[in-house]
Amino acid sequence: MAKANVANYSVQVKNLEKIYRSGDIKVRALEKVSFSLGEGDFAAIVGPSGSGKSTLMNILGTIDKPTAGEVYIDGVPTAKMNGNQLANFRNKKLGFVFQAYNLIVGLTAEANVELPLMMTSMSPHERRKKADSILSTLGLSDRLMLKPTQLSGGQQQRVAIARALVNDPTLILADEPTGNLDTHSGDEVIKLLREISRKRKVTIIMVTHNPDITKYCDMVIHIRDGRVEKMEKKGVVK
Ligand SMILES: Nc1ncnc2c1ncn2[C@@H]1O[C@H](COP(=O)(O)OP(=O)(O)O)[C@@H](O)[C@H]1O
Ligand SMILES: [Mg+2]
Repeated sequence: MAKANVANYSVQVKNLEKIYRSGDIKVRALEKVSFSLGEGDFAAIVGPSGSGKSTLMNILGTIDKPTAGEVYIDGVPTAKMNGNQLANFRNKKLGFVFQAYNLIVGLTAEANVELPLMMTSMSPHERRKKADSILSTLGLSDRLMLKPTQLSGGQQQRVAIARALVNDPTLILADEPTGNLDTHSGDEVIKLLREISRKRKVTIIMVTHNPDITKYCDMVIHIRDGRVEKMEKKGVVK
């Protein structure tokens, strides 16, 4: 697909609107949402319950479609793509991190991280090498053969981050990645995400309810009633 002229932005959101209809009732979940993020930006989305955070994340993740507006990821407009194109695009360009880790319980850490590579042409040997290398980078080289239940929450989330990274995505979407973790492990995970965004030039967008951890972000997108209320640029702490 032809790339639009969106130099330097890895993610561009333009006039996004989402209206949910059930019967006669219309809910405007997003209205004129626009923002742009560069390569390696680490952004947080914050806002009260019902403000549209999940709706926005689902559209960014190409899991839901907007009623109007467009999302460009790496210059590619995603809103009008069809099912097959989307699955392909998602697997190549996006990584997902969830609050509850969502690892496959019967599989080792290594096998969990290899999963996204199953859809590529990589050989089993190459897949394993890539998975091991990322897990090692994240400090899990001695945990490769353990299953999720044998890992702490913080370790499980690091495996999930490795899985999100293994395809070298443009964008990682993290929904409350520290929601199930104690303060210390949560802090470690956020610092890790920040480091990843810097070193690998991956754009990361995270939903959080914890204002404390937004200090590690470059940008905080405040949303309220489906609109961007404020884009807050942060001086990132060391
Ligand atoms: N599938 C749906 N059908 C109808 N309304 C929905 C649906 N999903 C979300 N909404 C409504 O859209 C608004 C935004 O919801 P959501 O994006 O889940 O907010 P948040 O994640 O910030 O709590 C809310 O008013 C919610 O009730
Ligand atoms: Mg939500």
